[in-house]
Amino acid sequence: MGITAHKLKGSKRRLTSLALTTLCLSLFLTVLGLIASGFSQKRETRQLSTRRPAIPKTWDDDAMSSLLLPLADARVSQKLISSSYYYRIPVRPVYKSYEVYRPDHEPRGYMDQLKRKAPQVIFDASKLNSEADWTKAGEMVFDAPIEFIGDGTLYSEIRGMNWFVKNEVPVTNEGVMPFMRWVVREKGKVELGILSCAQCHTRVMRLCENWEAQCREYAKIVVAAP
Ligand code: HEC
Repeated sequence: MGITAHKLKGSKRRLTSLALTTLCLSLFLTVLGLIASGFSQKRETRQLSTRRPAIPKTWDDDAMSSLLLPLADARVSQKLISSSYYYRIPVRPVYKSYEVYRPDHEPRGYMDQLKRKAPQVIFDASKLNSEADWTKAGEMVFDAPIEFIGDGTLYSEIRGMNWFVKNEVPVTNEGVMPFMRWVVREKGKVELGILSCAQCHTRVMRLCENWEAQCREYAKIVVAAP
């Protein structure tokens, strides 16, 4: 029975993987492209700095159509958006975001402090000069949530211990859950920011001094999860 369940899981996972890779690729291209299109708008008014990296055109119609694979089902057809449409999409601002703590580690008065914060846009291409600046900005983009939740089940459940326990959500030693962030886009309103690249591409690593005693036990819990 264990094996069947495992196999089923495997094939489902492959399908999900494929969907996720596609999702990732489009998310990545969108985020990158939106930022790149911000540069091209500025380029008209400003001379390119010599230290500015060469940013390739993200959405090239020919290159994009060359990525398409033959479809398994001939009844469906796919059509990509055009490059001109792509470069008309408004630039997404990247707001400063704050750590999400598991309730037992959250500093006292933390949420009230966040409510008093003013929104702050942290990505500003005009301030990036060195390669190190660009690398740091890339990390910032990777960590930037693209969807914001201000109410609903997840928003309220994440403020309680039960959500972390029932979902076996890993946190760092400081009690930080690194997959989502609190974001202030409007003063007085603290939203839960989700779907950053980091949400899926971050792993909490356990460094165990005694593998046998500590990590085996942990691995067992993970494998046994439905
Ligand atoms: C909803 C979860 C999710 C989000 C959000 C996400 N990814 Fe992914 N990503 C995945 C998964 C899962 C895979 C692996 C898919 C596979 O191997 O079939 C993957 C694969 C990738 C790969 C390919 C890695 C390789 O070894 O081939 C890259 C690159 C990547 N993601 C970058 C990004 C970037 C950049 C972002 C943000 C713009 C992003 N992803 C957002 C889940 C996500």
